[in-house]
Amino acid sequence: MSVSATYPVTDHIYDVVVIGAGGAGLRASLGMSAAGLKTACITKVYPTRSHTVAAQGGIGAALGNMGEDDWRWHMYDTVKGGDWLGDQDAIEHMCREAVPAVIELEHMGVPFSRTPEGKIYQRPFGGHTVQYGRNPAHRSASAADRTGHAILHTLYQQCLKHDAKFFVEYFVLDLLMDGDTCRGVIAWCLEDGSIHRFRAHIVVMATGGYGRTYFSCTSAHICTGDGNAMVLRAGLPLQDMEFIQFHPTGIYGAGCLITEGVRGEGGYLTNSEGERFMERYAPHAKDLASRDVVSRAMTIEIREGRGCGPKKDYIHLHIEHLDPAVIHLRLPGIAETSRIFAGVDVTREPIPVLPTVHYNMGGIPTNLRAEALAPTSDNPDRVTPGLMAIGEAACVSVHGANRLGTNSLLDLVVFGRAAAQRAQEIVKPGAAHKPLAASADDRALSRLDRVRHTKGKTKTGEIRLAMQQVMQQHCAVFRTAELLEQGVRKMERVVSSAGDLSVSDRSMIWNSDLVEALELDNLMAQATVALHGARARTESRGAHAREDFPKRDDQHWMKHTLSWVNGGGKVELGYRPVHNFTLSNDVQPFPPKERVY
Ligand code: FUM
Repeated sequence: MSVSATYPVTDHIYDVVVIGAGGAGLRASLGMSAAGLKTACITKVYPTRSHTVAAQGGIGAALGNMGEDDWRWHMYDTVKGGDWLGDQDAIEHMCREAVPAVIELEHMGVPFSRTPEGKIYQRPFGGHTVQYGRNPAHRSASAADRTGHAILHTLYQQCLKHDAKFFVEYFVLDLLMDGDTCRGVIAWCLEDGSIHRFRAHIVVMATGGYGRTYFSCTSAHICTGDGNAMVLRAGLPLQDMEFIQFHPTGIYGAGCLITEGVRGEGGYLTNSEGERFMERYAPHAKDLASRDVVSRAMTIEIREGRGCGPKKDYIHLHIEHLDPAVIHLRLPGIAETSRIFAGVDVTREPIPVLPTVHYNMGGIPTNLRAEALAPTSDNPDRVTPGLMAIGEAACVSVHGANRLGTNSLLDLVVFGRAAAQRAQEIVKPGAAHKPLAASADDRALSRLDRVRHTKGKTKTGEIRLAMQQVMQQHCAVFRTAELLEQGVRKMERVVSSAGDLSVSDRSMIWNSDLVEALELDNLMAQATVALHGARARTESRGAHAREDFPKRDDQHWMKHTLSWVNGGGKVELGYRPVHNFTLSNDVQPFPPKERVY
């Protein structure tokens, strides 16, 4: 009997389907519905619980509200921050569009903090400068330290205003592929256990990153990169998966984010000797160097015995010298988080912090119109019809090898909007859908059925912990061939241990045991390709710091890594060129040079 007979399927017909309701998914859903496309947004959590809600410090745009600024300086900082792996055409587009995008958010109702004259308040952030590196820029438009929260709620309200249809607490299982074309998705409704087939002319992956491959991360438990894994299962590649950002200031032990905005407001780091050590590593930018630079410096301080605390294994972040009124006004969220998770009153004592996994620069390769790519050797920019990706799930690549703070919220809204604009160009509202083969659902439903009825003895949590420990130990801030080789082998053992997976709940209604098992399967695929990409890349660039290859090697490695998982579960790597060109004559590409902060 075909597996489809066990799982009756309800059909839905849409022009476009967006998977994920974070900032990118909501911005795309809003633009598509407002343009008259019949749009469904499918999300595994209630939209305002998406991980964008956790973004704190701000959204980057050269508004120039608190000093001179220019989108070209923003572009230069982004290219340099990304260590020349970013695609400069996409970076130009993002930094130029940043200004209207933030003004658009303001007009939609985002409650930004204000200057005394009533302009949007902008704070300094790591790696953001004016005059091509001369001085720190005030570029991060913020709503206190809850900017993501403010943007997410506003976008959701706008989506409701424009009648976007939401399917909430639906877990998308897989893409419906017809040859190399995406024609929809299969999803599981957690509330009543039913299975749904969504037909769409375009499926937009806005499914976020895979931070939960690690034990200590600032990412929510929902950050399992489900869309990336669906793309791998469809035989399509992911890009630059080895570039994983450690945020310098996660709370020691808990991993919760303490915004870089703290250092933007005047906070600083010290080691056990009370030394402001960033002055040695980045004499000009100091605590506001880019995140990869600060995370490496903190790791070296700890390794060399200058960590704080009884075990000398964390660093101190100070804001006790700031006026409590400023903390109350600009940083209320981190004051509360520090009290709850570190037991620290930030007006009196330093916060114990550690570099913590925060962001994935890699993901589904796309062009700057958000179309997913399936590169071939003769066409590195070949588009996969019917598939788009935006936000952290995508690798467009505006962040290159290391993202600058504030450029994530910006990426979400700029490319969410780009996806909506491109969809308007290529989809005729109400156009008929091609019939699908009767067996089109089989792959997704067989996987669901296999995991649901698995009869092993090892709990999902045990396998997940083993995977997270491998990533934490073997794919961390500093890497070597030996560490990565061991990581690849250990990860193979973790993947085979999933053959003994135990799922004890066989029901279909709110079966969180089964959801976690499917998410683990998604995470393991991404951890595997990240380790392979990191092992192969014999240079140091941005967040990928190889102690055995400490220099950037532009001659051999200024290229994006592509990774596929073939039918036998083996990883295959390929490469595609970086776009070292711009879109207009308003700016010339920035040639590679040594990064000095
Ligand atoms: O530090 C922060 O507030 C994080 C911002 C970001 O990742 O863009």
